[in-house]
Amino acid sequence: MYDLIVIGAGPGGYEAAAHAGQMGKRVALVEEDRVGGTCLNVGCIPAKSFLRSSRLYRECSEAGLFGVEVDAFRLDLPVVVERKNRIVGTLTRGVDSLLKRSGVEVFQAHGRIARQGRAQVGDEVFETKNILLATGSRPVVPPIPGISSGHVLDSTGVFDLKEVPSRVAIIGGGYIGLEFATFFSEIGAEVVVLEMLPQIASGCDQDVSERLLQALRHAGVTFNLSCRVTGIEGDAVRYEDSAGETKVYAADCIINATGRAPVVEGAGLEEAGVDFSARGVRTTDQGKTNVPGVWACGDITGQHMLAHAATREGIVAVNSMFGKPDRVRYGAVPAVIYTHPEVAYVGPTEQQLKAAGTGYKKAMVPMGVAGRFVIENEKGSGFIKVLAGTKYGEILGAHAMGDASSEIIVTAATLVEMGLSAARAAEIVFPHPTVSEALREAVLQVV
Ligand code: NAI
Repeated sequence: MYDLIVIGAGPGGYEAAAHAGQMGKRVALVEEDRVGGTCLNVGCIPAKSFLRSSRLYRECSEAGLFGVEVDAFRLDLPVVVERKNRIVGTLTRGVDSLLKRSGVEVFQAHGRIARQGRAQVGDEVFETKNILLATGSRPVVPPIPGISSGHVLDSTGVFDLKEVPSRVAIIGGGYIGLEFATFFSEIGAEVVVLEMLPQIASGCDQDVSERLLQALRHAGVTFNLSCRVTGIEGDAVRYEDSAGETKVYAADCIINATGRAPVVEGAGLEEAGVDFSARGVRTTDQGKTNVPGVWACGDITGQHMLAHAATREGIVAVNSMFGKPDRVRYGAVPAVIYTHPEVAYVGPTEQQLKAAGTGYKKAMVPMGVAGRFVIENEKGSGFIKVLAGTKYGEILGAHAMGDASSEIIVTAATLVEMGLSAARAAEIVFPHPTVSEALREAVLQVV
């Protein structure tokens, strides 16, 4: 009898399994593909590895501004892919060793709920007190004629490209589309993003979304907003632009980045009576589903679709199933878009606060107030906005654009998680010179 069987070994599933193992529980982790899931194998980690190479490539062309002469450089895509594979290999071995240390039994098989108290693992059926569903998500394929032709890559296919394309069309201006737009434009491709909404990065605060659009346009990416892709024929993408005019863009690489959908099929959810829809499995903030003993975390819940949110949800579910009170505080979960410049945020946007009728104060400062930002960014721009409540000046959130945002956002998330007031946060000493001093300045201004 297992205490827990986890189905799916992404950052939600494997961290939860390890956590339960470290609590001394008997745990099995079932994965039909590769341990590490989308994030480690074909998502966050490969994308950031590619973006490190493209940044360096761009920096070579700007090196003269820093007093460094670089005579010749070129991008070797097979080496970029090989480096990515090496990084994924190293990190996968790290996950394997974490699972081993934690005493988790790993099965490479398909897992599903069998009947109450049982899970099917490949051909075998095991008894278990709990099942944690962590099957993740997969790319959405929108109903565009021709999108399923071999010409269109999804985010997974991009990581196997053998040559640098010269003209790239990206359908979708969300996280994935924008990160790929950064990569391809930095390595010298012509990039056109086709987005159906009037803005990019639509979940972000409007100031972030508008300024990111400006920065990426300035970097050479072409954006067609409020546009409708009507078909793909061979290498031609046909679309209606915002004025309703039909246009065609011939691209040697077409990427579908129109979103991801939870994987809710194949795990026996329907038969077990789990409450779910195509948008995901419904859970409480402790990861409980409507079926006793069945829990869910990560992208399968269709909530946040962020690796670190999945990890926290998995740990909360494990704590809750073994009697340790815990819950996820979503208001303090940060998000990052690894474009150049980076975007990072935590907490509600100004638009969400207005819509909810919540009173707030705000301060917005350019990243350039921090000496380190000026030193590091010859051409870059950025800003950080801090929002505080009117009750006691509690920090509600922060929204930033500019490199290093991904590293400083965790400080803002800590302020939110701790419910600190701006006055109290202003007493924190920030090291000098660091980019984080821009956050300090915004906090001082919102007191
Ligand atoms: P997304 O939902 O962020 O963006 C998809 C975009 O495609 C939206 O702006 C949508 O309006 C647009 N779109 C949808 N159908 C379209 C059509 N037919 N024509 C033109 N535009 C269309 O999804 P994305 O970028 O694919 O990312 C999926 C998930 O993966 C996200 O929820 C994100 O949180 C996660 N992710 C997180 C990353 C990170 O943390 N840095 C990086 C990449 C993905």
